[in-house]
Amino acid sequence: MSDKEKRFTELQELIRYHDELYYRHAVPEITDAEYDRLKKELLDLSVELNIPAEVMLVGDDRIEGFVTKPHREPMMSLDNTYNEGEVINFDKRLQEALLKAGNAVAGELPYVVEPKIDGVSVSLTYKEGVFVQALTRGNGIEGDDITHNVKTITSLPKKIIGKRIPELMEIRGEIYMDYATLQKVNKLREEKGLPLYANPRNLTAGTVKLLDGREAAKRDLKLIVYGIGYVDGIEYERLSEFHDALVSWGFPFHRKTWRVNGVDDVIKAIRELDRLRKDFVYPTDGAVVKLDRIDLQQLMGSTAKAPRWAIAYKYAPEEAITLLKAITVQIGRTGAITPVAELEPVLLSGSMVSRATLHNEDEITRKDIRPGDYVVIQKAGEIIPQVMRVCKEKRTWESKPFDFAVFLKEKGIEANREPGQSVWRLTAKKDPVKARRQIMHYASKQAMDIENLGVAVVDQLVSKELVLAIADLYRLRYEDLIALEKFGPKSAENLLRAIESSKTQELWRFIHGLGILNVGAQTAKDLAASFPDLAALKRATAEDLLKIDGVGEVVASSIIAYWSDAENQQLLDDLESLGVCPRNLLSKSVKPLSGKVFVLTGSLPTLSREEATVIIESLGGRVSSSVSSKTSFVLAGEDAGSKLEKAQTLGITILDEPALLEMKKHFEGKGDADTVEPLIKKTERQGLLDL
Ligand code: IVH
Repeated sequence: MSDKEKRFTELQELIRYHDELYYRHAVPEITDAEYDRLKKELLDLSVELNIPAEVMLVGDDRIEGFVTKPHREPMMSLDNTYNEGEVINFDKRLQEALLKAGNAVAGELPYVVEPKIDGVSVSLTYKEGVFVQALTRGNGIEGDDITHNVKTITSLPKKIIGKRIPELMEIRGEIYMDYATLQKVNKLREEKGLPLYANPRNLTAGTVKLLDGREAAKRDLKLIVYGIGYVDGIEYERLSEFHDALVSWGFPFHRKTWRVNGVDDVIKAIRELDRLRKDFVYPTDGAVVKLDRIDLQQLMGSTAKAPRWAIAYKYAPEEAITLLKAITVQIGRTGAITPVAELEPVLLSGSMVSRATLHNEDEITRKDIRPGDYVVIQKAGEIIPQVMRVCKEKRTWESKPFDFAVFLKEKGIEANREPGQSVWRLTAKKDPVKARRQIMHYASKQAMDIENLGVAVVDQLVSKELVLAIADLYRLRYEDLIALEKFGPKSAENLLRAIESSKTQELWRFIHGLGILNVGAQTAKDLAASFPDLAALKRATAEDLLKIDGVGEVVASSIIAYWSDAENQQLLDDLESLGVCPRNLLSKSVKPLSGKVFVLTGSLPTLSREEATVIIESLGGRVSSSVSSKTSFVLAGEDAGSKLEKAQTLGITILDEPALLEMKKHFEGKGDADTVEPLIKKTERQGLLDL
């Protein structure tokens, strides 16, 4: 095999690898520009070697867990260019082809120039003006059904009203997220110690593929429509005419488009858009140039991959070259180790950059990145700069490949990498690095706020093995502290006092301090506001947790996993027996029936089940479908069956409708749990009738 053939195979594999990351997992490791470079290299080689490049077809975003459905018309990709000359050639090609087909257009060709939004393409089906389905591009022929997530987009018309509405149509558009939402989501993720999304597109791609529409609703997806997929019954002469129809029907449309004649004005529009797009709230990575006349579009047709009547002009992302001074690591709260490039500060896209993420060990190996290298960094809509490649020609003879495993060992970081995983994680349970991190987090201002317990003290306590778990803090004695460096009687006493008073610190601070995966300060506050105490929180089922605003499936399962881990159980037991008893000041927001579980059975005299549920929930109670020992009350109406019997055998208080209404009257206006708790107790003991 020649070198060129070898490179061809390598490129095919690389592109397949990056396709998988981009389309299926929404976590690309390289920017679009880098990807396009690989594709261009492959295309050039395929011509040179005369081999058909099968991977030139569109990628495939379909994933497990989604129903795949066919598109009425294929969803195509676009040919890309970074070069104005190629836009001119594109126009020339069209003129020549149309001339050949006997359709020479008098004068210049009519074009529409639109922003190219960097999001995820979607096909929306409307039947008689009613939104019925949303599909991803998939493999172009069939896509994943994401209707449940797309439904949450507020600007999506669910029913269109207006003139000339086709009976059946597929509209093509782009789902995106604005920079502000990305920042909001990333801030929360940072707090929870989760990896950040590099750009709005990745977050969008991840969000449209959530299985739970409620989670997607929290992410604030947005939409812009731009094209015809399939239209039944109505003929449009121009794409711009369809655009006008989309606007009149109330669809969210581009901030600006250009309708021009001739390639000179196309180029002007492309340049103007480049100036304007910097102020757009959503990410754009180029301009799309489309023939406006639909008859001419049809004459030109498509290749296997893309229409011949359109081209995407991509704006070059800004790049800079700088020195990679060192590779360091960042250790997340959950022990994940991320390599970081420490750079000689350099100006890039308007800001000084001194660090860039290196993602993981494989990324370093694949790009052969070594400390001392000059590297190309790029920021293309991304918040976090990326190291694109190494300037190998600038390497000196002393340069040696970087070995991540050896590096970790030298730093004294005990970590391992599970087979099939890309991430290294801290190992040893009693790992001092991990203990230090946990204690620092627990004592920090944002968590338990223990004064006088700074880095220097924690380092000593951990290295002397006096503290290897949070509970050990409460076992410290005066003699232990006085023996530490720079500790006198006064500082020892102060620290002991601070630790002692942390025993009744606020509950949310304690929850945050535990370092539960995915639970940051805000989530800890939400949890404390929803449960009276730690015991109630520990009893909560996933269903209970999911009722809390701000708690999704990921958070709920992290919390449950935390309680069920033997080591954590031990820690909580230890803390309790050492007298740690956080108080919950946020529990004021606990409603009178918080934590109470109702089961409804039989038909009530005046209220429907839904109305009864609304009353119970408005008082903070929860309605469950089956009776168990966790049930607080059974609300029974006529023809109540086996549930009533079961409640009676379990000794659960039975209420009737008047009792519920009485309860409502009684509690209304008394939001404070402290004042109503005795009443609830009384109710539980006696039934409600004498309230
Ligand atoms: S037209 C057949 N217009 O870019 C033509 N696409 O690289 C199909 N995109 O899959 C696309 N903004 O997801 C078109 N104004 C725009 C666009 C746009 C973004 C996306 C779309 C498409 C991809 C092709």
